[in-house]
Amino acid sequence: MSRSQWGSRLGFILAAAGSAIGLGAIWKFPYVAATNGGGAFLLIYLLICLSVGLALMLGEMALGRAAGSNAVGTFRQLGGKPWPIVGLVGVLVCFLIYSFYSVVGGWTIAYIGKSLTGSILTSDAKVLGDTFNAFITDPLQPLVFHGLFAGLTLAVVLGGVQKGIENLSKFLMPALFVLMLVLIVRGLTLPGAVDGLLYFLTPDLSKVTGTMLVDAMGLAFFSLSLGMGIMITYGSYVGRDTPLLGSSLWVIALTVLTCFLAGLMVLPAVFAFGFDPSAGPGLTFITMPAVFAQMAGGQLFAVLFFCLLLVAALTSSVSLLEVVVSAVMEELKMPRRKAAWLVTLAVFLLGIPASLSLGIWREYTLFGKGFFDLLDYLTSNLLMPLGEVLLALFVGWKVWPSVAAELSRHGKTPAWLGVMRGFCRYLAPVLILGILVHNL
Ligand code: PFF
Repeated sequence: MSRSQWGSRLGFILAAAGSAIGLGAIWKFPYVAATNGGGAFLLIYLLICLSVGLALMLGEMALGRAAGSNAVGTFRQLGGKPWPIVGLVGVLVCFLIYSFYSVVGGWTIAYIGKSLTGSILTSDAKVLGDTFNAFITDPLQPLVFHGLFAGLTLAVVLGGVQKGIENLSKFLMPALFVLMLVLIVRGLTLPGAVDGLLYFLTPDLSKVTGTMLVDAMGLAFFSLSLGMGIMITYGSYVGRDTPLLGSSLWVIALTVLTCFLAGLMVLPAVFAFGFDPSAGPGLTFITMPAVFAQMAGGQLFAVLFFCLLLVAALTSSVSLLEVVVSAVMEELKMPRRKAAWLVTLAVFLLGIPASLSLGIWREYTLFGKGFFDLLDYLTSNLLMPLGEVLLALFVGWKVWPSVAAELSRHGKTPAWLGVMRGFCRYLAPVLILGILVHNL
């Protein structure tokens, strides 16, 4: 069976950017940046993305293209035993993340509905907080939307690499930027918005601490979808002539730009109506509806805002599912259709306790955390950094000659290769071990 390929370079870049740009950039970034020193956080986030982030993304794409295989097969082919375990951990992490990502993806669909009916268009943040809580703790409703979201993701992955993932990304990613621009213009033209802009962009150097650095690195790697085989899998579908450096720079630039735009979209509007920008995760589902309730044309903007979140989440969840599906297809010799259905069913089932742990199963905890929080903690704080360190060591020390050959396709060795090798060998392992130790 011949392997799938992207139809065009643009399609590949938009699909990879679609994976990167997700709830991390649009939901998490604004409130994390707002509470961590605004412009200072943005700058550090940018530096991390352009150094270690770039090196790891290039490394992953080069590995995938060199091996032409899924995440597990890539490590087996290039590194031999015991390296496939690293690929396997990546696949497992994608599976675990997808289970709770899909629950939140479901919330975005529900909130499109709530915006359409107007039921969340009140400026009383207390009422909105109660509405949100009542919704996510309900035993049934979030599960229906989780199923719907997983079903949408399944439909795309069933379509395959070109017809499913690439076509969706080529259509939805430009739409995402248009939606953001509309919302930014609306936010910035509100009276009082300038204060929010200044708050977001003025660097508060007193907030630059160890914890802030760890937060910035964690968010950078999460938002670039690194360390779990995603860019390996997407890289394995890239044609031989596609330059990988330029493509990964595009993906990173689009992701950083989106984070910046997400801050511009949310913070000025939140300020204009006098809400607390450091409301944390509630900023999206509680504060933003209150903002829309007070805006002229607010209902329309609320619908657009939650559509935007859905688009961002969907193109990311598609990549999470594709990594698992491609590994199951190739390692267990299963047709795409069967693999995609099986994985989706398993993810749906795992998402059930995750969702219920926010409501009726709240008392069941392990290490003081409910199942949803435990999944999030285990993947984001422990397994992802572990995968990233191993990836950096693998690229920098174990298979560097193959990676270098893959990155110097047209004969000459590019001058920047030495720098990338240094990042993979030394800087990335040291920084990421720092995150791991801090999190432990
Ligand atoms: N990058 C996506 C986001 O920021 O929402 C989420 C994500 C996708 C994280 C894939 C990790 C991943 F492997």
